Amino acid sequence: MRILISHQNKEECDSLTKKFKALNEEVYGATNGKDSQLIFMQHKCDCIFLDINIQRNSALEVLKFVKINNPETKVILTSDSLSQIEELELTNDVAKRIGILKIMIAPYSFEDLIAAKDEAFLSTSWSKKRSTDNNLTGEKFEAQDKDFTIFDLQNLLLDTPLFLDLFVKVGDGQYIKIFNVGENIDALKLEKSMSLSQNENYVYFKAHERIIFINFMNEFIANSTTYKDSTTSSKIEFAKVLIEKIVEESQSFGVGQDLISEAKKVAHHLFKLVSETKGLIDNIKKRKDLESTSTTHAFYTTFFAVIICNKMDWTSERSLEAIVIASLFHDIGKTRIKNIPDVGINNILPKDWIEYKNHPQFGMEILEKSEGVTKPTLHIIYQHHEYGDGTGFPNNLSQSRIYPLAKVLITANLFTEYMEENKTNALDTLRLMIPNREQISKHDPAVLKALISSFITKKTLF
Ligand SMILES: [Fe+2]
Ligand SMILES: [Fe+2]
Repeated sequence: MRILISHQNKEECDSLTKKFKALNEEVYGATNGKDSQLIFMQHKCDCIFLDINIQRNSALEVLKFVKINNPETKVILTSDSLSQIEELELTNDVAKRIGILKIMIAPYSFEDLIAAKDEAFLSTSWSKKRSTDNNLTGEKFEAQDKDFTIFDLQNLLLDTPLFLDLFVKVGDGQYIKIFNVGENIDALKLEKSMSLSQNENYVYFKAHERIIFINFMNEFIANSTTYKDSTTSSKIEFAKVLIEKIVEESQSFGVGQDLISEAKKVAHHLFKLVSETKGLIDNIKKRKDLESTSTTHAFYTTFFAVIICNKMDWTSERSLEAIVIASLFHDIGKTRIKNIPDVGINNILPKDWIEYKNHPQFGMEILEKSEGVTKPTLHIIYQHHEYGDGTGFPNNLSQSRIYPLAKVLITANLFTEYMEENKTNALDTLRLMIPNREQISKHDPAVLKALISSFITKKTLF
């Protein structure tokens, strides 16, 4: 990794450079903005510690230069005081939007800088992963449940070295680490460990490493022969796990640039999966999940949206990305609302409806702050409950006033809700829905036709 220390104080700059060198990092120092830009270009630096006081050019000029020339470079801004940051009105949201990964305000130690750098690269790629957990394997320790994420044992890939530390839950807030990152899973040891577990079908990994898992799954789906040789239902299962973890991540930590770039990859994988996999539609239309949660809701909604896109001949690559990103995060606005059920509009109390109707607006506001989210995605999220018959919310838009791309999500979401309400599979849901005029009138006819014709021929309808 190539690091640039950009600091106007020569002593500080030299001292930091020396310390990073001692850790065998490739590191460069610069005491003004112009030199910083030059060195950055010469050495294609991956990470910059940019001090706010740098002169000739200013820190913001250097930042702009770096982001134009290599948006992937991680920029960590350092400052002597909070007031300096406040004067510039650099809130965390603004900083994120202009490409600053983190702001560090003095006093901070050298260890803090290393931690910030490690954190910056933690989410970039699963293949660069190092362990971040200090607990010894086999020893019980206490931790908060929110710091872990659950994983179905069935989906564990036994022939790949672990890229995450694995844990079992042995009691409320009690965990044991069972494997370290880099280890191959030993089946016997796994079986023994699982006997200690509170829930024998699941393992856990750290919630802050979920993004690494997402990155791995995307790469696994794109490149692995294990994946290519999998059955259609396993492929759907992998897609489901990936989507569920993406939605969980958004609910826990919001939607950062990394998550958006993973979501874009999902758009293309799903499209490929739907358009090229034999028996996929047949499988998905008969599939039934035991329970409905906000993550399974996002899975079906996204999948149905892609199935519709596959039938519509106007869907460009950019439209597909916008529709899929909107589908994955369409209900994120609900995280701002208390007292509403995870899924199922029938379970919303009358007094909570007014608040519930704010979630498209809230969702748009949350996503607006994320770098890499396009305007079409925001429009789609804002309109995902507008219905063609004018009965939707927040604006009771009529069919002709609804944004065309939003119509895909509207249908995918309504259909998923109807499926959840009736507890039926997709095929039976269609059979129930088609004679229901009130339901049908909410959809755009062409979009609904795309969904119906994907699932049924005249022969299979009744
Ligand atoms: Fe919604
Ligand atoms: Fe929804």
